[in-house]
Amino acid sequence: MQDIRGNRLWITGAGKGIGRAVAWEYAARGWTVAVSARTAADLDALVQEARAAQLSGVIVAYPADVTDHDALKQTFKAIEHDVGPLDQVIFNAGTYVPNAVKDFNVAPFRTLMEINFLGVVNGLAAVVPTFASRRAGHIAVVASVAGYSGLPMASAYGASKAALINMCEALKPEMDAAGIAFSVINPGFVRTPLTDRNMFPMPFLVDADVAARHIYRGMAKGKFEIAFPLPFVLILKILRMLPYGLYFRLTKKVIKS
Ligand SMILES: NC(=O)c1ccc[n+]([C@@H]2O[C@H](COP(=O)([O-])OP(=O)(O)OC[C@H]3O[C@@H](n4cnc5c(N)ncnc54)[C@H](OP(=O)(O)O)[C@@H]3O)[C@@H](O)[C@H]2O)c1
Repeated sequence: MQDIRGNRLWITGAGKGIGRAVAWEYAARGWTVAVSARTAADLDALVQEARAAQLSGVIVAYPADVTDHDALKQTFKAIEHDVGPLDQVIFNAGTYVPNAVKDFNVAPFRTLMEINFLGVVNGLAAVVPTFASRRAGHIAVVASVAGYSGLPMASAYGASKAALINMCEALKPEMDAAGIAFSVINPGFVRTPLTDRNMFPMPFLVDADVAARHIYRGMAKGKFEIAFPLPFVLILKILRMLPYGLYFRLTKKVIKS
């Protein structure tokens, strides 16, 4: 029999980085957290650590690949069967592949659209019909501030995240009408195994536990956009409002540096 405590969250991409920190934050606050990622060993390690730390909540592992539409549906069913109706779902699984004009090819675009964009669509397809039938539940999608406007060396990653932000803006009024709370999470740079690989400067970098607290608080407030850290978010929001002449003068500097 599954040990159930508090409210219930399902989060994808929770084996590492931001997702792992969010799972921990919620479990530390007494939630039952179902965690998914492809690498079962990462999830098992998280479950064991949470148990050893005697958190007031509980973490349960459900390995799944977000690019597998049917598997994701089955995972959602299995979680609700085991732990009961979910209160929140955070579609966080995603990755980054750098790409540049000098070796332009379709692979990074396909990979990032498959995982970052369609991976979320697969998740929504699994969860939305049930949440709509209950007129309850809160769904969040992890996009990125990189989706605000085009940034050099990130045309594939940025496009996948811009697609998510646009989709979330389009869905918000319909989700409201369906009785489902809906949020888009736009982090700036967060220290994770993903960004540990980056060789470029990462302004306003925050730790994953800081990101997790932003996400927990933003979800608790029911905000549509949960974006952090604020100074970086404001700079990028101002950048996207600039006329292209000025915008490209600034973004060209990224290539030269
Ligand atoms: N770190 C940042 O600065 C930053 C900034 C803005 C937005 N984000 C976004 O935040 C999310 C998490 O990033 P992160 O930095 O925490 O990345 P990370 O450290 O690489 O962790 C990503 C997690 O997602 C899982 N994942 C990847 N592909 C998956 C798939 N096909 N199916 C299921 N799970 C999958 C990974 O596990 P497996 O490989 O085992 O599946 C891992 O547990 C991503 O959507 C990313 O784009 C990150």
